[in-house]
Amino acid sequence: MNNTASTPTAEPPLLEASAISKRFAGLRAVGGEDGLSFAVSRGSFVGLIGPNGAGKSTTFNLISGVLASDSGAVTFDGHDITNAASDTIAELGIGRTFQTPRAFESLSVLDNVVSGATSPGERLRAAFGRAWRTHESVTVDAAKRTLDRVGLTGRADDLVSDLSGGELRMLEVARQLVRNPVMLLLDEPTSGVDPVLQKRLAALLAELHREGMTLVVVEHNLHFLLALAEHILVLTHGELLTEGPPTEIRTDAAVISAYLGDDYAA
Ligand SMILES: Nc1ncnc2c1ncn2[C@@H]1O[C@H](COP(=O)(O)OP(=O)(O)OP(=O)(O)O)[C@@H](O)[C@H]1O
Ligand SMILES: [Mg+2]
Repeated sequence: MNNTASTPTAEPPLLEASAISKRFAGLRAVGGEDGLSFAVSRGSFVGLIGPNGAGKSTTFNLISGVLASDSGAVTFDGHDITNAASDTIAELGIGRTFQTPRAFESLSVLDNVVSGATSPGERLRAAFGRAWRTHESVTVDAAKRTLDRVGLTGRADDLVSDLSGGELRMLEVARQLVRNPVMLLLDEPTSGVDPVLQKRLAALLAELHREGMTLVVVEHNLHFLLALAEHILVLTHGELLTEGPPTEIRTDAAVISAYLGDDYAA
């Protein structure tokens, strides 16, 4: 019998960072001697953890085109996105939030999500195209549905300046989600978020994962992250200390001493 047909073929990773590195004023932020390499498989839920200054946000910046890397390569869904423009990367399907949320202060919550649905290039094309009205109404519907998913329906008509820090962070998630990204990078999504919204966020992330979205989440709240993610990357000094499932990471002696603190395992 020929087994070939039933043998699962190894799918290439959705995202692959190969020996990427970044220095600021000569100091290494990401990548040791050989640069930083890691892979994210399609549909996986990956946690990226490490102490302050380990290079987590810089890694997101290198992947999403916010910063150019000094060396190495990044591929996404078969595309070489090394040092590509952030708009191009977003259009390929990578969404990302920032550690410090960004929003248009003078717009309503709903309008912020509508504006998140279109990149600047798309907005320009839509403004000059006949499809603008249709495009806009589809987007408003999608924006309302997305606000519902993140628990901000009651805030749709409020100004962003009226939101709490936690609500602002959820809005940032909504602005990315409405674009229906293939992969979503979240930088400390629970920071400043109250326990009720945190629970909602956990449920939302689990749901997105079930729906097949690829998630990479940076978190200091390990109780939140280790309960959700299926694979953890541990960064220290810009280098990969170790990686593995949460159950192994929780008890890994090197991780505990580098990051978690000796009392974490208790
Ligand atoms: N734009 C910048 N200019 C200069 N140095 C920077 C810049 N961004 C980051 N760094 C430095 O690079 C290193 C990695 O920073 P990064 O923000 O990536 O860490 P992090 O793991 O996200 O930390 P945290 O958990 O505190 O958010 C730090 O030493 C930081 O001070
Ligand atoms: Mg950071």
